Order: sequence, then C-alpha cells, then structure tokens
Amino acid sequence: MYRTHTNGELRASDIDKEVTLSGWVQHVRNKGFLVWVDLRDRYGITQLIFDGERSPKELIEKASHLGREYVIQVKGKVIERQSKNPNIPTGDIEILVSELNILNESKTPPFTIEDKTDGGEELRLKYRYLDIRRNPIRENLIFRHKVAMAVRNYLSNEDFIEVETPYLIKSTPEGARDFVVPSRMNKGQFYALPQSPQTFKQLLMVGGMDKYFQIVRCFRDEDLRADRQPEFTQIDCEMAFVEQEDVLELFEGLLKHLLAELKGVHIEGNIPRMTYDEAMQKYGNDKPDIRFGMEFGELNEVAQHKDFNVFNQAELVAGIAVPGVNSYSRKDIDKLIDWVRRPQVGAKGMVYVRCNDDGTFRSSVDKFYDQEDLAKWAEITGAKPGDLICVLSGNKNEVRSQLSALRMEMAERLGLRNPEEFAPLWVIDFPLLEWDEDTQRYYAMHHPFTAPKKGQLELLDTKPGEVKANAYDLVLNGNEIGGGSIRIHDTQMQDTMFKHLGFTPEEAKKQFGFLLEAFQYGAPPHAGIAFGMDRLTSILGGEETIREFIAFPKNNMGRDLMIDAPATIDLAQLQELSLKVDIKEK
Ligand code: AMO
Repeated sequence: MYRTHTNGELRASDIDKEVTLSGWVQHVRNKGFLVWVDLRDRYGITQLIFDGERSPKELIEKASHLGREYVIQVKGKVIERQSKNPNIPTGDIEILVSELNILNESKTPPFTIEDKTDGGEELRLKYRYLDIRRNPIRENLIFRHKVAMAVRNYLSNEDFIEVETPYLIKSTPEGARDFVVPSRMNKGQFYALPQSPQTFKQLLMVGGMDKYFQIVRCFRDEDLRADRQPEFTQIDCEMAFVEQEDVLELFEGLLKHLLAELKGVHIEGNIPRMTYDEAMQKYGNDKPDIRFGMEFGELNEVAQHKDFNVFNQAELVAGIAVPGVNSYSRKDIDKLIDWVRRPQVGAKGMVYVRCNDDGTFRSSVDKFYDQEDLAKWAEITGAKPGDLICVLSGNKNEVRSQLSALRMEMAERLGLRNPEEFAPLWVIDFPLLEWDEDTQRYYAMHHPFTAPKKGQLELLDTKPGEVKANAYDLVLNGNEIGGGSIRIHDTQMQDTMFKHLGFTPEEAKKQFGFLLEAFQYGAPPHAGIAFGMDRLTSILGGEETIREFIAFPKNNMGRDLMIDAPATIDLAQLQELSLKVDIKEK
C-alpha cells in the first residue's frame, strides 16, 4: 500500500497513529541532526521530521539527500508538532519518520513550484505538468470540475440530456475559420472540426430530443487573446417548443445556481436586460461591465454649433464622468491623452473638464465653452464636483469603441473591477445582420440560423441593417459568457436568410442541404444558447485569463509548447493523404 492517508488529512486526533504517506518533496530543511521535509500531494502538505536522536543515522543521511520534487514514501508515527502552523490544516502534527523509500528522483525543476513562481508563462506552459503541481493551477482545475458538476446537475434536473455530437464534420460557418482534417479514405476531401455543434443540436431537436446539452470542445482558427483559445469548451444547449422568455429564464437560473453553489453569491430578482442599441449607446460595447457607472453622455446637442470645429464636424461627441479624479495633474492628463491616442485605442485627442470641488468647471476648451455650457455637459454625463469629464468625438462607432476602452481603463485604475463582485446582464435584440466593409456584404451577426424578430421580415429587403434578431448574450463583468438565439425552423424562412446572406440556392444546398431537408420533416420551434465554459469558469474563479483554467492550453500563437504542436508531418503521411506542402522548410 503506497499510503494510508493523503497529505491533507491528518489532524491532532490522529496523534500516535502509525501511517504511510506518499508524495512530492516540496521543501527540505536540514539542521544536521534534524531534517524536516514538507511532503505534498493534491490534498495538502504534511510535515515530516527525521530526528537523529530518535532514528537511525542512515535514515537522517538519506533524508538529507532528498531533492525538490523527489517522489517518496514514508512510514512513521503521527506526533504533536512543537511549533504549530495555523496556516495549514495539518499544522498541528508532524510525522516522525521511521522508514523512507525514494520512489523516484527528480531533476531540479526549471521553476519553483510555489504559489508565486519565478517561472514565466512560456516556461510554465512548456513544463505544464510541473505547473499543475502548483496550488493556483491545481485549485483552478478543481474549480473547473466543480463548475462542470454543478452545470450537469442543474441541467439534468431540468430534464436536459447530454448527447455527444461528432468532431469530424463539414464546415459550419460561424464567423471564424475552420480547422480542417484531411481524409485518407476520401482523397482530396476534408473534414472540418466544429466551431460549435450548432447544426447538430438543431437536428437533435428535429429528432425530438427536446432538451439537449453537452459540455463540448469547439475549434476556431481565429486570432487569440486572453479570453480566446483555438480549442475551447462550450456548455452547449438547445430546447424545443420554447420562446425567448423560456430560454432566458432557464439559463439565468443556471448562472444563479452556479453563483450560489460555487461562490455563495445569491442574486435576487431577475438578471437585468438591456437592448443591444442601449448597450452601444450607454457603454459603446455589446458586453458592458455594469459593476460601475461612467455611462456615456451624448453631448452633440450641447457641444455643437459653437466655434469648436472639431466637435462641429463630429458625428458623435460623447463623454464620461470619471469619479474623483479632478485631482489629475496636467501631466497625468497629458499621459491619459497619450493613452487614448495609442493605436490600440485610436482616438485623435481628448477634451477634458475638471469639475472643481466648488461647483465650477475648468476645461481644455474654455475658449469655446462657458460655465453654463460645461454645467450642461456635467448634467448629461452625471458628473459631480471632484470628477473629470473626458470627451471624445468623431465617427460614431469609433468614438463608442474608444470611449468604451477609456471607461474600462479608468475603472481598472480606480479599482472598480472587483473580481468578487458579479454583475450579470442579458443583452438582447441584437441586429440580425452585420455589414462588412471589406467584402461589401452582410453577414449574420450571430449565425445564419438565427430568426429575425416577428414582423421584421419585410425590413430584410429594404433596410437589412435594421432588422433585429431574437438573439441574446449573457454578459458577466464585461465578458460575453454566453450567446444564443431563437432558430429559424422552416425551410422557407431559412432560404430567405441564405439569400440575404449572399448564398445562391445551390451553395445553400451544398453546405446546408441536410438541415434544409430536415426542416421538411416536422421541425419543432426551437432555440438555444452556448456558454463559454473556460470564460465562465475563469470569471467565477476571479481571473480573466482562461489559460489559467485549462489544463493544457495553447499560447498566443496557437502553439502547445509542451508537446510542440503544430508540427510538420512525414512525407509518407502526406503522401498517404495525397497532400503536397508548398512551404520551404525553415
Ligand atoms: P458563440 O459563437 O457566441 O455561439 O459562442 C458561445 C460562447 O463561447 C465562448 N467562446 C470562446 N471561448 C474561448 N475561446 C474562444 N475562441 C471562444 N469563442 C467563443 C464565448 C461565447 O459567448 N452555436 C452558438 C451558440 C448558440 O447559438 O446556441 C455559438 O457558438 O463565451
């Protein structure tokens, strides 16, 4: 038997027991006659003591040669610890070791396996199995497991059935590029890895499964960020015979259940809802962080038609009142202006108004605006004495996105993004279509299977950009954690949609013939949603970098640094697949 107990288990009530423990050497303290070893496993740390007065010399000798991360087994007696450690659950006891077996030696690890490590992320990813031994990563993975369990319990109680769908499929266009897999048996043909199981879950509804879910891997070849991975996990769901209200209610129940179970946070009442248009207008963003205010004030009416040409020419003049920073020095403000001018933000400049403590104003455009004008700005942006109003102007969409970036930056600086506060929000009534300047055509904003709002079908021909969809996103602390829609469930409407998305009937048939055909055999009205499991878990866990909650994540270049993938393949393998690679080897 390798062990009678784990390293997180023994307490004062176990004193005098003879035990066997196994684990990794976290730390060795050698005082010559006395050697202490911290023995670690997933469950905790237990202190071992090798005492020259009570044990044979060879044993002390052997213990003093232990290195970090050696795997050992010890036998010994639980004794009361002299200097207790109140910081760990096993801190009242230690093991007086009588037998030591080295099960495996270890090279010196490339970084310290401590909560705060000296290893950079690249190194940690290359040796991820060592990184996983660290408390933070281990706890994150355990937390993820708990999220998955809570999701399965909730959905299962609501009669959802987990059904697996294939990974080797035909491309489902959802905005990103597909990862493709060549077929050996069907030369010159490729599978695509699913960007999501979208069409399959709809087919499961046609198949009468009624309520489906799946914790499922999805694959998207897109540019990566802190909250994006090329393969990520969705909590994917679909329901038949439902309307938007049914879906929102059930899945806000899921989020509330997770918050209560995992964080002890109880959200009273309904999760607030906001239309897409309102979110864009107030926050310049379709996933607003509503943990704090700083809502946009549109100033066109009060700031235009004076002599300030920059504003007169702008499509939108908008500002936010940043609380309590009227004390920013000239230098601080200049730095902030540099910040909004960075290419990542893209503003040309920034006008500011200090709201003095005595109720007066001092602005960078005092030449053009008097106190009365500025008082109106303050009223519209909700500024109070002590605040700094920051104003941007220009093209509407650009100003919104720049001001949104500034709002988030200021919230970060002011510590308003408290990771222990949870502010969920439904964003509803998304536009059905989105215009793409590059290709000069409309794309489905969510996906081509999303139904337009009732009565808006006519608009499709005249003002396609204005048609709203029965599509919704669930936003948590400024992150899109889920999105879904009511689906189109009749062939005719789906045909119309494809037409507006620029598919010829032949193309639509080639790509989605199976779905269109299925709809001819009694498709029930249906709708669904998918949550980003990695995102959801990391936000609940208090972080926004999803890599920390994925056992073996990829880096920003989509590489797995540990197994060194992607990699070239043998010529023989290429030939078997009838593939030729046209890139010179580096
Ligand atoms: P959508 O594309 O909005 O919807 O994806 C659902 C959720 O998945 C998460 N997500 C990601 N997480 C990590 N890395 C990525 N690259 C990534 N891309 C998306 C987000 C997002 O909200 N089939 C539809 C759902 C439906 O209509 O039911 C879909 O996939 O949190």
